[in-house]
Amino acid sequence: MIAAIFQNNPIFGAIENNISDLLGAIKSKDFDLLVLPELFATGYQFLDKTEALSLADELEHGYTFEAMKQLSHEKNALIIYGFPQRVGNEVFNSALAIAPNEKNHLYQKMHLFDTEKNIFSPGKTGFSVFQYRDAKIGIMICFDWRFPEAARKLALLGGQIICHPSNLVMPHCPDAMITRALENCVYTATANRVGEEYRTGSRLKFIGKSRIIAPNGEVLAELGTEKGFVAVVVDPKLADNKEVTSRNGVFDDRRPEFY
Ligand code: ACM
Repeated sequence: MIAAIFQNNPIFGAIENNISDLLGAIKSKDFDLLVLPELFATGYQFLDKTEALSLADELEHGYTFEAMKQLSHEKNALIIYGFPQRVGNEVFNSALAIAPNEKNHLYQKMHLFDTEKNIFSPGKTGFSVFQYRDAKIGIMICFDWRFPEAARKLALLGGQIICHPSNLVMPHCPDAMITRALENCVYTATANRVGEEYRTGSRLKFIGKSRIIAPNGEVLAELGTEKGFVAVVVDPKLADNKEVTSRNGVFDDRRPEFY
């Protein structure tokens, strides 16, 4: 299976422009799975919840959803993208997985970062894994990386590829994802963004460095600090081997009764 990540630099609030930028960049690319950044079409730094509500989509509605649905059909691929999700008067920092003729899968960010707590409600979906072709896919969003339980839970549920839409501002995540991959023997695909936002009085610089990492911790593909796209062939079955030595396994040797 070909797994791909796209790293963008969205203009805040310019949803149609940001989506057409994506569509132009991947027009001639082939992939089976494409992971896009957190909040990829709206931008990140909402002034307040009212502004986030005004740019949010209801589940399976709206411009972004329709565009991603069409993209998944055109490419015959699974698309995972981050978006602000309106549910009544609440907004969730969500990601949706869409593939042709498949049930969609929703994840709402569990661990909200810093001022996100002023805007978003903490996710209620929990973590889950779903099958797409020969891969078992799990989703977590950005700051979830800081909580090893998130990736562990997805791996324990059988996840083989952890898809990780992100808007990273702290420097440690790209390297920490090597550990997340290694400690769980799974693939990880982090799709981050670049650029800056300065809308609320605090300047945010997004670090790029999106990566696809193998279950043995090898960085298979990575982007720098510019916009970009990269794809690599992955073999989901490799993530079923949890062996470290002939006498050690990352799951078998756990001692949960002492944790
Ligand atoms: C983050 O969770 N967007 C830093």
